[in-house]
Amino acid sequence: MVRRLAKAIRDAARGVSRTATKAAGAHSAARLKRAQWRYRLLTQLPDKLTGGKLSRAYRAMEVVTREWTVVSPHWPAAFDGLRIGHVTDLHAGELITPEHAAAIVGRLRAHDVDLAVCTGDVTDLHPEHAAEPLDMLGRLEAPLGAYLVLGNHDELLCADQVATMARRSGVKVLRNATVALRRGADALRIGGIEWEQTVAACAGAVDLTCTPSGGSPHLLLAHNPKAFRRAADLGVALTLSGHTHGAQLAIRKREPRFPRRASWRRLHAGPYYERDSHLYVSSGAGSWFPVRVNRPPEVVIITVKAR
Ligand SMILES: [Fe+2]
Repeated sequence: MVRRLAKAIRDAARGVSRTATKAAGAHSAARLKRAQWRYRLLTQLPDKLTGGKLSRAYRAMEVVTREWTVVSPHWPAAFDGLRIGHVTDLHAGELITPEHAAAIVGRLRAHDVDLAVCTGDVTDLHPEHAAEPLDMLGRLEAPLGAYLVLGNHDELLCADQVATMARRSGVKVLRNATVALRRGADALRIGGIEWEQTVAACAGAVDLTCTPSGGSPHLLLAHNPKAFRRAADLGVALTLSGHTHGAQLAIRKREPRFPRRASWRRLHAGPYYERDSHLYVSSGAGSWFPVRVNRPPEVVIITVKAR
């Protein structure tokens, strides 16, 4: 009787798990289909209708280099003054060619960065378009290395393929993982989470990444800035994100002069803070839709000072 009951429970669990796998598969297939339609309608069609004019103008936009200095009591003293080069949302593909995306990454070379990071959406759709910009990220030879987290676009066709290409190029990929860099007795922990869509799912990924026995990271890389809600609760000094493209359209040309408090705000562009934790949401360097108004493509150089 007990055996029969146990078997029934096992069978039911298998059934649930099969249904869940099927649902997840159907969900990602639907996501891919939507992305392919979006690609045809909003990337390829405007280009065809304007005889390539719109995308040529988009590619000719000046890439802005933003500099931001943050002071944090949670930052390890041995890494005081660390310079981080941050690129995100290159969307290499038809609109931003892989060669163009690589040239944008290459701009970090001129800024003497200690660490180079990319917070996802290296490719727009096809994993092979990520190869050239990832290769450039690895070739920057930043003294403390180059790190990548994947974005929703990197995951559309094959996240593992993008991750493998990154590793081959000498870029470390953080998939709900944390690494520690040492300077004497001090350590700088860098964590990175997988793409998640909601605040709750992001919080789950942050918890997975932030609670290993080694302690929470000082620097968190997360494609989705919603991860900051949880990272701030855990006292993560600095979170870097992308994903929003700064909405690509802004009324004001000027960026806010001071970081804004994150509570109750949409985290869509620039610096934010909550208690002693800081966030920078980069508007990114590429896009899938060839229009940006007052939101130019950007790379960001962040200097972190330990207080
Ligand atoms: Fe993106």
